Amino acid sequence: MNATLTPAAPAASTRTKHLVAPVAELPPGARKIVKAGRFEVGVFNLKGEYKAALNICPHALAPVCAGPVRGTMLPAEKVEYNWGMDGEVLSCPWHGWEFSLKDGRSLHDPKRCGLKMFEVVVEDGNVYVLA
Ligand code: FES
Repeated sequence: MNATLTPAAPAASTRTKHLVAPVAELPPGARKIVKAGRFEVGVFNLKGEYKAALNICPHALAPVCAGPVRGTMLPAEKVEYNWGMDGEVLSCPWHGWEFSLKDGRSLHDPKRCGLKMFEVVVEDGNVYVLA
């Protein structure tokens, strides 16, 4: 894992507000990848809630925010197939690692692996990311 190669998110006191798009251009299910200072960030509208993640996969540094957003197979007690988290899972386009867009944590090792997440604010009809 290359998690140590990803840059740390800036401290709250040093963050700058970066315009992503007007709210109307980022409806539920949409995403936009933007430059936010020294970071490239994917901003997602997750069923009306905005989430932003660093566009670097902790596995092998792929542009993870370009991957499909979908659901995943949930754990089950027996042989059954339960689809869940629909529209909340970002799958890396290179090797398919899955991350929850709710908190950035990987689905296979949530305690040790995840995406760097950024705060998103909406002001005056525009979406901003703090980075
Ligand atoms: S680079 Fe993302 S899963 Fe391998």
